[in-house]
Amino acid sequence: MVVTAMAAAAVRPLALLLLLLIVFFSSTASASDTILVNSSLADGQTLVSASEVFELGFFTPPTSTARFLGIWYKDISPATVVWVANREAPMSGTTGSLTVNGTGGRLVLADRSGRVFWSSAPSNVSGGNPAARLLDSGNFVLQDGGGAGEVLWQSFDYPSDTLLPGMKFGWDLASGLDRYLTTWSSPGDPSPGDYTSKIDRRGVPEGFIWFNGTSPVYRDGPWNGQQFSGEPDMEPNNTNFRFHFVDNRTDVYYSLSVHSGGVLSRFVLNQSIAQRYVWLPPAGWSLYWSMPRDQCDPYAHCGAYGVCDTSASPICSCAAGFSPVSPQNWELMDSSAGCARRTRLNCTGDGFLPLRSVKLPDTTNATMDATISVDQCRQRCQANCSCLAYSASNISGGDSGCIIWSSPLIDIKKFAYGGDDLYVRLAASDLPANGDDSRKKSAALAVVLSLSVLLLLGLGAFFVWAKFFRKKVRLDESGQRITLFDSWNHLAPVRDRTVEDETGQGKELNVTLFDMNTIAFSTDNFAKSAKLGEGGFGTVYKGELGGGQTVAVKRLSKYSTQGLDEFKNEVMLIAKLQHVNLVRLLGCCIHGEERMLVYEYMENKSLDYFIFDKARSAQLDWPKRFDIILGIARGLLYLHQDSRFKVIHRDLKAGNILLDRDMNPKISDFGVARIFGDDTDSHTRKVVGTYGYMSPEYAMDGVFSVKSDVFSFGVLVLEIVSSRKNRGMYSSDEQTSLLSYAWKLWREGNALSLLDEAVVAGCGEYRRSEALRCVQVGLLCVQERPEDRPHMAAVFMMLGNLSAVAPQPRHPGFCSSTSTDGEPMTSACTVNGVTVTVVEGR
Ligand SMILES: *[C@@H]1O[C@H](CO)[C@@H](O)[C@H](O)[C@H]1NC(C)=O
Ligand SMILES: *[C@@H]1O[C@H](CO)[C@@H](O)[C@H](O)[C@H]1NC(C)=O
Ligand SMILES: *[C@@H]1O[C@H](CO)[C@@H](O)[C@H](O)[C@H]1NC(C)=O
Ligand SMILES: *[C@@H]1O[C@H](CO)[C@@H](O)[C@H](O)[C@H]1NC(C)=O
Ligand SMILES: *[C@@H]1O[C@H](CO)[C@@H](O)[C@H](O)[C@H]1NC(C)=O
Ligand SMILES: *[C@@H]1O[C@H](CO)[C@@H](O)[C@H](O)[C@H]1NC(C)=O
Ligand SMILES: *[C@@H]1O[C@H](CO)[C@@H](O)[C@H](O)[C@H]1NC(C)=O
Ligand SMILES: *[C@@H]1O[C@H](CO)[C@@H](O)[C@H](O)[C@H]1NC(C)=O
Ligand SMILES: *[C@@H]1O[C@H](CO)[C@@H](O)[C@H](O)[C@H]1NC(C)=O
Ligand SMILES: *[C@@H]1O[C@H](CO)[C@@H](O)[C@H](O)[C@H]1NC(C)=O
Ligand SMILES: *[C@@H]1O[C@H](CO)[C@@H](O)[C@H](O)[C@H]1NC(C)=O
Repeated sequence: MVVTAMAAAAVRPLALLLLLLIVFFSSTASASDTILVNSSLADGQTLVSASEVFELGFFTPPTSTARFLGIWYKDISPATVVWVANREAPMSGTTGSLTVNGTGGRLVLADRSGRVFWSSAPSNVSGGNPAARLLDSGNFVLQDGGGAGEVLWQSFDYPSDTLLPGMKFGWDLASGLDRYLTTWSSPGDPSPGDYTSKIDRRGVPEGFIWFNGTSPVYRDGPWNGQQFSGEPDMEPNNTNFRFHFVDNRTDVYYSLSVHSGGVLSRFVLNQSIAQRYVWLPPAGWSLYWSMPRDQCDPYAHCGAYGVCDTSASPICSCAAGFSPVSPQNWELMDSSAGCARRTRLNCTGDGFLPLRSVKLPDTTNATMDATISVDQCRQRCQANCSCLAYSASNISGGDSGCIIWSSPLIDIKKFAYGGDDLYVRLAASDLPANGDDSRKKSAALAVVLSLSVLLLLGLGAFFVWAKFFRKKVRLDESGQRITLFDSWNHLAPVRDRTVEDETGQGKELNVTLFDMNTIAFSTDNFAKSAKLGEGGFGTVYKGELGGGQTVAVKRLSKYSTQGLDEFKNEVMLIAKLQHVNLVRLLGCCIHGEERMLVYEYMENKSLDYFIFDKARSAQLDWPKRFDIILGIARGLLYLHQDSRFKVIHRDLKAGNILLDRDMNPKISDFGVARIFGDDTDSHTRKVVGTYGYMSPEYAMDGVFSVKSDVFSFGVLVLEIVSSRKNRGMYSSDEQTSLLSYAWKLWREGNALSLLDEAVVAGCGEYRRSEALRCVQVGLLCVQERPEDRPHMAAVFMMLGNLSAVAPQPRHPGFCSSTSTDGEPMTSACTVNGVTVTVVEGR
């Protein structure tokens, strides 16, 4: 275009000037998206896709001097690079150019001297007239026939570290093409790094993250017809994304598509973590999902036949019928040697014991037959002495298909809900005798007896330990504060080495051990006047430390069963959680049986102090409330996934949302649930939480998961928009139950009247639809079935982007004898079977 314009303009100087101006403007305003045959793109020029989403050109990464050819989002700054051509061959000067070579049918990146830095594979061009175009999907395509014919090459087939919607991740078996991700070496260096993420086709296909191409870091489990076995939170077709998995004779891949074109999303392998980001202005790239994310996700954390459960303490246990290979190492929390069978299999007399709601073990050596039923699968496994376990291969539309394992079961993770059922072969004597009550009872008795013995032993050990420790503290009392870190290092097993390595903060954590005198003095010896409040885990006092620093001291109730080591471990862990929407832990105090946590002090008390009070309520207008809702969502999202420890709060409520001087919300009391230890046996677990905020499955069955927190969050959102307190728990009485009331209004299409009129008065249309969106999200979060509730990433997205689609909520979780729509509501009130599996799994 430029060339023809110039030629025509040679006629008259005035016209030339005019045309040059036009050329100048047109080339800046609408850059081309195409390179034609035999022409090139020089350093300094760029291609821009038709709707101006993506841009291709030369760039220099921050902290680098080299030039690379790449693709980035046109309007996002700083540039987010999604693809790099010459990763392995950086160019030093700015004389590079990308040429479409007609004879070879390929793209060639060379510098002025003709040195080639990168080129696409040669292809067969029929007309000698290929052209390269940058599409709005971010795909850079070389096509025959002037850009309209057969695709000769495309960047989507050669991903760097990023998957874009529409890209295939995996294998094209006909051509042998394997599309996989490789990390950048560092943020300033796109050369291939240590981590790759690939689909492993051996056995039953699974996605892996590898270190150095040889050691597995994370495995997402086989596709079970609905989702990856290791990711029960995954929504394969939610309102914004749709996930595709293909496994047939020609293709093995997965890909993602976006329903509404407006949502920008990318999936990036960021060192050892796979992350999906969504673009949410004004916040920018927001983390939507990431893996691995908790202590059970590192590959084979509990070894062969070990089962990992983040809600158990310790997290590793052996599958029923197995015991630790090295009991000593298990005590030291090193479970990598795994478990061994108690009784040898005898082949003919063996049976199967189900492990429910788990991530299926590594399927690298497993075999699959999608054509048979689960019953046939069991028979097939029973008949073959080398079969060690089986499961259904497709759980959508009822269980069907068959996966058979004949090598040790590795990398099993237990979920609170979702996941798959695995049937493990055991010798007859290791199977629980069916219907033999007396045997069960005596077994139960034995467990109780051994537990009490253990408890006694534990208490004894604790007293000895406590005595020793008190002495030690006294010795050190000359200094006012003693940094705990050194003395902790050898006591506390490091739970998650990767986190320390990654953040590099491990050694600089500012956890302070306060001595009892300091605390007692600062709180006027725990005077009534210093009391700020009382929570599920203890009483909070205001304290003044020397130097004028004000702190909040939480004196934990004495019913914690944790030992000293475990307590310290947890405090360390909580101290690592740092986020603007979490209250910061400054330190702790241990004195005899007393345990205290010292937090930063929040000037504006807590959210309930404002929203449930008529006068103070007016101080929080809608924009402020919306910011508070977003802040809480951000904090909770961090606890659930970003922090990589997966902390479930378990007692989220208005009273636990503190407000700082500028009314920024900060979640408090997170991680305290961990300090009280988790007993996964649902019968003995203490249900801690607050009436009105507890999800049905938690209140009734003691089953908690991130989705119980989501429920509490939903209640909180409805309270914030309406300034009303949810008093009744699971009743349908609209006077007391905010949930029933909100649900009724929503179904009548009258949700706006839930809003506190004084609060939204003066708000424009946009702000009102924001408030309406909050009601909808609140109702989605309090849905009866945990599976239906969105996870926090989706919540955050629906709140942050009104153009993102939000589904219609279903019935909230509360019990009702007079169900309004005739649906039977008993399911929410009865044991739903999940608890049983928790017991079986251990
Ligand atoms: C491109 O260049 C090759 C030789 O370099 C030539 O044969 C071919 O005709 C050219 N194509 C066009 C469309 O000019
Ligand atoms: C295309 O590549 C061939 C060799 O493959 C080379 O001889 C030719 O000069 C190249 N053409 C252009 C226009 O760069
Ligand atoms: C090009 O075509 C020839 C003959 O059809 C074939 O043998 C060759 O493999 C093709 N090359 C590529 C790169 O497709
Ligand atoms: C990566 O693997 C190669 C062998 O495949 C080995 O020589 C090298 O030491 C490994 N690097 C690291 C960092 O483990
Ligand atoms: C996926 O979700 C979209 C939007 O909710 C819906 O229109 C579509 O029918 C769903 N597709 C499948 C296969 O469930
Ligand atoms: C495999 O699936 C892909 C995508 O659905 C399809 O294009 C291809 O034809 C399928 N191949 C076979 C052999 O069914
Ligand atoms: C990698 O992760 C870190 C922290 O999780 C984040 O700050 C950074 O932006 C990520 N890099 C990319 C390329 O997304
Ligand atoms: C296996 O167990 C069955 C039933 O318990 C028994 O009848 C059989 O003799 C055993 N076989 C072997 C080889 O031990
Ligand atoms: C698969 O089998 C091979 C060879 O027997 C073995 O080395 C490997 O550890 C097995 N992998 C798994 C995950 O079972
Ligand atoms: C039993 O299973 C093993 C491993 O899956 C397989 O190699 C063998 O052929 C099976 N035997 C029979 C009789 O099916
Ligand atoms: C799983 O089962 C459902 C229902 O029978 C079926 O529609 C689907 O195609 C199956 N998926 C696979 C991967 O076989």
